[in-house]
Amino acid sequence: MKYKKSKYYIENIDALKIAKKYGTPIYCYSKNKIIRNIIKFKNNFESIKPLICFSVKSNNNLQILKLIQQYQLGADVVSKGELIAALKAGIPSKKIVFSGVGKTADEIRYAIDKNILLINAESESEIININYIAKNKRRPVNVGLRLNPNIDALTNSKISTGRNIDKFGLNEKTIFKLINKYKNSKHIKIKCLSVHIGSQITELKPYAEMIRCVSKFIEKIKYHFDYIDFGGGMGIQYKNNDKKLDYKKYLFLVKKFVNKYRVKIIFEPGRSIIGNTAVLLSKIIYIKKTNKRNFVIIDAAMNDLIRPALYGSYHKIVPLKKNQQIVNKLHNFVGPICETTDQFSVLKRYFKLNDKDFLAICDVGAYGIVLSSNYNLRPRPSELMIDKSKVKLISRRETLKDII
Ligand code: LLP
Repeated sequence: MKYKKSKYYIENIDALKIAKKYGTPIYCYSKNKIIRNIIKFKNNFESIKPLICFSVKSNNNLQILKLIQQYQLGADVVSKGELIAALKAGIPSKKIVFSGVGKTADEIRYAIDKNILLINAESESEIININYIAKNKRRPVNVGLRLNPNIDALTNSKISTGRNIDKFGLNEKTIFKLINKYKNSKHIKIKCLSVHIGSQITELKPYAEMIRCVSKFIEKIKYHFDYIDFGGGMGIQYKNNDKKLDYKKYLFLVKKFVNKYRVKIIFEPGRSIIGNTAVLLSKIIYIKKTNKRNFVIIDAAMNDLIRPALYGSYHKIVPLKKNQQIVNKLHNFVGPICETTDQFSVLKRYFKLNDKDFLAICDVGAYGIVLSSNYNLRPRPSELMIDKSKVKLISRRETLKDII
């Protein structure tokens, strides 16, 4: 996605043409950017040959999951719905891991029936439930235990998962107890230790601490896990000057770990695969000018993309046709929803804009459409996949008839 002269292009297509033809708000993905990200991620960790399970919660569009499958990635799922979607996209069950603190008996039964690689359990009660179900089915089940390492991921507190105040994972003591209880069990086969400390991580330090903590734990527990699942969390650059995670250094640490403990590594990336591959196109409805600021009221809202309202996240906003003139005034980019937090960003100056101009909200591929809702009874937008000069509708816009 880039400008050619003053026009914003998605692959080989002028984004303005897409917006006018398909209507706004609309999510547009660049197919080749997704492919490049997958290849890049694989190459980064090539030397340790991990199982890469795409985190379906970040984006569950079936066409995107099919692309994930074509590039031999597995899936990390957190619900029966995501598991069904991953299987429907053709992802082999032996490449699927199931995480989450509240798997229901129905979900556990379904996961066992589908013979997935691992159920990563997060509480003693869940293990008791899995054991009970597996016993009834007379089937052994491969499980992982999710460790809560009590580490601060140095990211937005709302997307941190590895501190002991967070609901995720089990403490070391409970894992000790569970391993002792189930190490000779006929039905619970503890194969994996998993850990996921948070999302949008750009510092190496929390990952280094996580690896140190897992190593120490393995030494203490003297139990061989076939798999160590280090989760996802790798951050992307939302702002040009955002820090970039140093994958080389991360690999160095993981490699040392693998050489020592001889385990298969699993990663569960979501955002780093899909985050920067999409934009949300939107049209300006009105520009409301006050003395101090211009409220740029656009047709996308917090129901279409909730990240700014929910986490205070920043997403770059660019005009589809750039006007060289700059207006030195505060610009509040807001949606039409009746909530003060329905605001995408506040900028000190911006390119001159007019009513009915079009904009792109950037880097919305991860946790964008999946977190959309019908708040204010607004239909969800459609999604397009752009492949060079081709456009494919990969989910259609909801109609009012669908939702009323
Ligand atoms: N594995 C587990 C167990 C997770 O909980 C998550 C994300 C991932 C993998 C994938 O993490 P990623 O590579 O995408 O960072 N809605 C928030 C992010 C929530 C992340 C939840 N868990 C946001 O929009 O920033």
